Amino acid sequence: MLSRRLNGIEESATIKMGHLAKQLQEEGKDVLNFSLGEPDFKTPDHICEAAKKALDLGYTHYTSSAGITELREEIAKKIREENKVDVKAEDVIVTTGGKQAIYEVMMSVLDEGDEVIFLDPAWVTFEAAVRIAGGKPRWAKRVEKGVKYDSLESAVSEKTKMIILNSPNNPVGYVLGESELKEIAEFALEHNLLVLSDEIYEKIIYGRRHVSIASLDGMRERTIIINGFSKTYAMTGWRIGYAIAPAAIITGMLKIQQHSVTCAPSISQFAALAALINSQECVKEMVAEFKRRREVIVKRLNDLGLRCLNPEGSFYAFVNTSNYGNDLEFTERLLKEVYIIVTPGSAFGPAGKDYVRFSFATSMVNIVAGMERIEEMLR
Ligand SMILES: Cc1ncc(COP(=O)(O)O)c(C=O)c1O
Repeated sequence: MLSRRLNGIEESATIKMGHLAKQLQEEGKDVLNFSLGEPDFKTPDHICEAAKKALDLGYTHYTSSAGITELREEIAKKIREENKVDVKAEDVIVTTGGKQAIYEVMMSVLDEGDEVIFLDPAWVTFEAAVRIAGGKPRWAKRVEKGVKYDSLESAVSEKTKMIILNSPNNPVGYVLGESELKEIAEFALEHNLLVLSDEIYEKIIYGRRHVSIASLDGMRERTIIINGFSKTYAMTGWRIGYAIAPAAIITGMLKIQQHSVTCAPSISQFAALAALINSQECVKEMVAEFKRRREVIVKRLNDLGLRCLNPEGSFYAFVNTSNYGNDLEFTERLLKEVYIIVTPGSAFGPAGKDYVRFSFATSMVNIVAGMERIEEMLR
């Protein structure tokens, strides 16, 4: 009954674990959920107020497919000023979340059999989006420090069309530095590849500087930047993301957008505009809280023999479980013995096999309680 396109496409592992947590909660179990990549903060008040105002002013209809002009202009300004990429409003498309932007890119540029390189492990949706669009994933191993250039070389073929980067990274939490990005840029130029650079965690960063690969020489014309409001402003439910891309790709994405969702939600676009043009103090406060949580969870996990690096960005700890079994065994144990939900690392690619991902986008109270339960379980 289903199309061949869906062969081998799994349900999103992160969303699946979230559903499982809800189901257990409904059964009355005292579940602690470390699986969802969703800030637990309330969307800041001034953003909600802007949405109410948009409602009162009657902005409740379709907008232009690429998004309202004011928002596209503000996004372009942000990208020029903060990311040092020469962008105009026409180069921006506002989408229903970063996910929709990623789908539109894949549907616009991939033909059946085109190959796409991922740095393994990679966020679950990249692979699904590539496969649904008819592309083939090729995994390049990313070592803990520095990208192994060789392994990029071994993943490339004459069919390779694109490489996907995600820095700050989900699930590992690394931030790609300028020298690594230069190496990848040279590789992309040498092999004439597009680069999809997912920068959605750019503000959730702990002391490192975020650099967009699109700002490097020769890269603007071959890079698609994906970004959005879900993580930075705790706006997951508003469904606003965006892409910056070369003109031909924006045209392709617009066709898909017009024939699918028409445009991103109008009220949410006004809320996103308010998020960009007002004080960024709310972002600083949320990031400071993520940083406090990071300190606690990373120390506690390492003390328990669950090795993990200190994430440089994003809100995930990618934890090595090999002292206690592989990722699936450990995930199941956490669930069955102490009602703790995490995401098994193999969902993110072959390199994730002995890892689980803990999201610390959950309260400090839950983090402390969760670590106590795990300590007891392992005792
Ligand atoms: C790396 C990455 N990119 C994009 C997204 C999509 O976010 P949204 O569709 O809410 O904008 C996520 C969400 O988990 C993510 O982790």
